[in-house]
Amino acid sequence: KGNKLWGGRFVGNTDPIMEKFNASIAYDQRMWDADIRGSKAYVKALEKAELVTTEEMNSILHGMEQISEEWAKGAFVVKPGDEDIHTANERRLKELIGEPAGKLHTGRSRNDQVVTDMRIWLCDAIATLKEDALQLVATMVERASVEIDVLFPGYTHMQRAQPIRWSHWILSHAVAVSRDVERLQEIRSRTNVLPLGSGAIAGTPFNIDRELLRKELEFDGISINSMDATGERDFVAEFLFWASLCLTHLSKMAEDLLLYSTKEFSFIALADAYSTGSSLMPQKKNADSLELIRSKAGRVLGRCAGFMMTIKGLPSSYNKDLQEDKEAMFDCFDTLHGALRVTTGVMSTLKLPFREAHGLSGRAVFQAESKNVPLNQLTVEDLAAISPLFDRDVAAVWDYSSSVEQYSAPGGTARSSVTAQVQHLRRWLQDH
Ligand code: ARG
Repeated sequence: KGNKLWGGRFVGNTDPIMEKFNASIAYDQRMWDADIRGSKAYVKALEKAELVTTEEMNSILHGMEQISEEWAKGAFVVKPGDEDIHTANERRLKELIGEPAGKLHTGRSRNDQVVTDMRIWLCDAIATLKEDALQLVATMVERASVEIDVLFPGYTHMQRAQPIRWSHWILSHAVAVSRDVERLQEIRSRTNVLPLGSGAIAGTPFNIDRELLRKELEFDGISINSMDATGERDFVAEFLFWASLCLTHLSKMAEDLLLYSTKEFSFIALADAYSTGSSLMPQKKNADSLELIRSKAGRVLGRCAGFMMTIKGLPSSYNKDLQEDKEAMFDCFDTLHGALRVTTGVMSTLKLPFREAHGLSGRAVFQAESKNVPLNQLTVEDLAAISPLFDRDVAAVWDYSSSVEQYSAPGGTARSSVTAQVQHLRRWLQDH
């Protein structure tokens, strides 16, 4: 065969460097459960098509159960040559039950297998993220309800614009996240479609009951075209975009809060649980949680853009380029799962240095009501009796109060409008 430089590599085993480059097992093993669920359903369809006997099916099902236990216990040993989760599980099945293992792959390709696994995995992931996002919305709505009387400067162009309620600010972010939840549900409906039974490209020549597969795997529908089913990843792209958009919402909120937490603004104080200190400057309390939330938006956007570049220009059907979909999907899930929960933590624990003023104005309202006069007719002496903090500026505070109350159309910052927003979101939460 001559002494061509590449000769040994070409006819011999795969170059170990190539083997490593090609393998996805390091990350796609996260789909072990989805892969096993898919195989268990598939062997039932094979049995129904009389491609395996009932005995063989039971043996395969039993073997799959054992493999599942191994993964769950962390006892599954990945061996060299296990290219991905599909080959790893099949290799192990053969070790456990012998011959019938080979029949499991009849009429199935890793092309329809991998995308089935991903859709199963992503539907579960979406359910988790939906809970995370609902938790955040609920936390924000409750906070908005409790602190509805706190007035706050509203900024446009980062310049003071009009007085608003602090709750109005909170709810502006809560409604955005509620739309993220709705988008997530829409994505789920397109994700929850079964590709299994599509084979490598052309479909399956066997009598595979795809409706049985759908029911077993709890998909809402089955894919309508085998080339599309195996070669298209728009459901992943949508999820990556969703993650990007949701994180830009969280990032915007984080950026506001970062500003509000500075000494210069002093509107809020972040809980210690979401802050870090400086080793050099003991007076510092850094809002690392918020900076990380802000930064993760960039990370996730990068994943989305990167994957779009990967799929742009691909020809039809399965190409190995598509293997790149998984790390992006996993990373966006992990990042959102973290960011949503940290945001919930931050929002439920931050303190308003404004609160004191709020308490004082509450006492002033009480005083005015007991004297049966409007708030702005309390005398300087009345107010001084409540707190020495009330000085001549007090008139300005009443101006803010009457200012915000002008905005009573739906969506505005008047107490009645903000209350309606709280009620709207509470109903929305009950429906989701
Ligand atoms: N690990 C592969 C992936 O993630 C599975 C599909 C492989 N298919 C193939 N024809 N080589 O995309």
